[in-house]
Amino acid sequence: MNLDSAQREILDGAKGETLAKVMKTLVAYGEAFGAEKMVPVTGRCGHLVTSFGLGVMKPVYALMDKLIESGAVSSQPFSADPRPLAPEIPVNFLQNLLFKVMYSKQSDYEQQLKKLGMMSDDAFTCACYMSEVGNKPNKGDILSWAESSAVVYANSVLGARCNRNSGIIELFGSIAGYVPYFGLLTDEGRKATWKVVVKTTKKPEAQILGSAIGMKVVEDVPYIVGLDSWLGSELNDSAFLKDMGAAAASNGAVGLYHVEGLTPEAVELGQALLQKNAEEYVIDDAELERVRASYPCIWKNPAAKPKLCFIGCPHLSLAQLKSWTERLEKFGGKLKVPVIMTCAPGVEKEFAKTPYAEKLKKTGVILSSICPLMYMNNPLCGKMPVITNSNKLRTYTSARYYTDDEIFTYITTGEAQ
Ligand code: F3S
Repeated sequence: MNLDSAQREILDGAKGETLAKVMKTLVAYGEAFGAEKMVPVTGRCGHLVTSFGLGVMKPVYALMDKLIESGAVSSQPFSADPRPLAPEIPVNFLQNLLFKVMYSKQSDYEQQLKKLGMMSDDAFTCACYMSEVGNKPNKGDILSWAESSAVVYANSVLGARCNRNSGIIELFGSIAGYVPYFGLLTDEGRKATWKVVVKTTKKPEAQILGSAIGMKVVEDVPYIVGLDSWLGSELNDSAFLKDMGAAAASNGAVGLYHVEGLTPEAVELGQALLQKNAEEYVIDDAELERVRASYPCIWKNPAAKPKLCFIGCPHLSLAQLKSWTERLEKFGGKLKVPVIMTCAPGVEKEFAKTPYAEKLKKTGVILSSICPLMYMNNPLCGKMPVITNSNKLRTYTSARYYTDDEIFTYITTGEAQ
């Protein structure tokens, strides 16, 4: 690794033993991926994936204490993923007990995050790039993030540059102010090795399209053609790209995609982004059907009535909240399945200023900034029959996936479409 003099000084301990260890870790991480240099982090803010105070993560708390004591706080303020707990989410006696034990370190950990540079109490969301949150990178910014849904959005829709780092490594990058230069930070690493041709007869479901792409290309970069005919040439429907990207990042490991005529680098460079010998993957109606039909149902009783519905993984945008409110208001009846919609605290505040907030409340929907995955990932909640419109939540938990339209039918009639 070729380090410049400022980086070498940090590594040699000029800024203290702890920062030297942080740098040493980043250098080792970079070397493992063949990086030859470190580059400065230029984004305004970092983002931390570990937002949960699991009692068993003792080494993390010890590490955080060490960083704080030695003054090795983040050179950038940072947002963090959503909290695992929220008072508005109904829990029974046993679940309450379990959450108290599981997340026994939550408030201590949040104190540590504050000392390390957490932007604000409201900055707990995976959709940190939304304007209402205040952590929106610019095109070309170099980031040190790890949350897969945020990394793929920042790379693809905003044109920032970030690898799919792991938790803690991303904090180290923010602390040192440098990240190793490899993969999605380089021009070469941002070229596509897959040409994905969308040939559907109607606008595809973002969540199934992303899932199909993720499962096919896995960690490669796809260049998607044919989607602009459904989405237009303006980045107006960024919620579609948010949801498609999160599905591709979790059903596979996609960190960057280009959409011809739409995403910034594809608009600039067009098919010059395609590597020679790129493979081709055609997605038509039948392929989307095939992918959808491959999702297993792991409920103990597949015919069980759902006990809960989660909408908003990743967190919903303001436009998505308004659109769900309009649909449910038009329906006007009592919901047959308890529904939790999730969004960033900043989005919730903006939403509260609109007449939609009262209307959504009247439908009985609970609005929260919790992470549904953190809520579900335990033996008690994992046994519950939960439905969702999120392909990420389906992948990581026992929740069953339905399209937006199917979810609407399910929650308004109590029956699957
Ligand atoms: Fe966000 Fe949690 Fe889903 S971090 S993407 S709501 S799993």
